[in-house]
Amino acid sequence: MARTNSNEIIAAVDIGTSKIVVLIAEINHESDLKIIGTGTYKSSGLKKGVVVNIESTVDSIAQAIEQAEKFADCEINTVFAGIAGSHVRSYDGHGFVRINSGEVDYSDVEGAIDASKAMKIPSEERILHVLPKDYIIDGQEGIRDPIGMSGIRLEADVHIVTISRSAEENIIKSLERCDLEVQEIVLEPLASSMSVLSKDEKDLGACLIDIGGGTTDIAIFKDGQILTTKVIPIGGDHVTKDIAHELKTPIESAEALKIEHACTLSHLNGTGESIEVPSVGDRAPRNTDIKILSAVVEQRYRELFEVVLEEIGKMNTDNLRAGIVLTGGTSQLAGAVELAEEVFSSDVRLGYPKPMSGAFETINSPENATGAGLLLYALKKFQSNPEELIKQKSSGSLIEKTRDWFKTNL
Ligand SMILES: Nc1ncnc2c1ncn2[C@@H]1O[C@H](COP(=O)(O)OP(=O)(O)OP(=O)(O)O)[C@@H](O)[C@H]1O
Ligand SMILES: [Mg+2]
Repeated sequence: MARTNSNEIIAAVDIGTSKIVVLIAEINHESDLKIIGTGTYKSSGLKKGVVVNIESTVDSIAQAIEQAEKFADCEINTVFAGIAGSHVRSYDGHGFVRINSGEVDYSDVEGAIDASKAMKIPSEERILHVLPKDYIIDGQEGIRDPIGMSGIRLEADVHIVTISRSAEENIIKSLERCDLEVQEIVLEPLASSMSVLSKDEKDLGACLIDIGGGTTDIAIFKDGQILTTKVIPIGGDHVTKDIAHELKTPIESAEALKIEHACTLSHLNGTGESIEVPSVGDRAPRNTDIKILSAVVEQRYRELFEVVLEEIGKMNTDNLRAGIVLTGGTSQLAGAVELAEEVFSSDVRLGYPKPMSGAFETINSPENATGAGLLLYALKKFQSNPEELIKQKSSGSLIEKTRDWFKTNL
């Protein structure tokens, strides 16, 4: 049955190192999101969050899109997509304007933000986001919403995020090869934080750590504003590789052993229990003490958390009173939260996407934090400027429809 198009339809593509997630949602009553389609497919064209093989990436995106469109019974042609990788850099920026009419209006705010962008960045990079942290009017700091306030000089403190142009182009190219127009590229930790952190946590001060397959994304909030972001090129795949190396087993077996049997607190796995470990080549499988597996995993998680702790330390962010929120696929391992509490000496919780209506249960897990966050980012865009949202061209039934990529790529 063809879907009626009384509500706007938005779509998000999270192009991760481990998997591609496509989410399709309807915007109900301009405020609520209803998930109407989801698709997930193994990703094989990325390394450490960056597209390194366009063909493989296109194939994986096409599969995930096909699943999501079938589920939603509609065709999408414009998407919000995430970006991460070690090419992402962030800077503090500062700009000011004279308030012409004596009362701050939108053009003054835009002017101060524009002025804050006046910084030299390498030609192979571009500014992706300029995120306001604080406004200052005539020396008075701590102003969140300056519109309508009186004064002579408006200053803006901002967080500037830059990305590599070529990394972005490869994402756009892959999506275009799937007949998808890119509405906007969004920083993945920013998207994840929108779906996982509560308003209270952002106000009190919290650090979001999204640990995926190839990257660990950090976003720190305080007083309701984003203070800083960072993408570190390590994730769960490194743990899997280490298990494969230490236990001399193929990567697929190492991945299965990790998810089914490992725990980041090796002392919780009693000695004596043994697991069957497939061997490489034609050799017979061996039995290994489960403690050996967990010792490898604990060491890697500990190192990962220590790298993150060092990064958070560099970011100079004291008093994150709401603690740390872990999300992403790698955060789901047994004992990850407890180990993080020990390393960070802080309260830690596991972050799930905020509830939405419709088929939300299909995406209710930490590894979907980014995809759900991209939809929330899109919703926010729609609410602030509905005219800017590129509309899906068609929302009819998919039966009888065949995409161009279906003929050429599959
Ligand atoms: N239950 C689980 N326990 C432990 N690890 C898990 C579990 N489920 C998935 N993982 C790990 O999570 C990682 C994938 O996480 P996720 O899906 O968030 O990554 P991604 O978004 O594709 O990658 P990235 O964001 O790094 O580009 C893999 O390393 C996988 O082994
Ligand atoms: Mg991810």
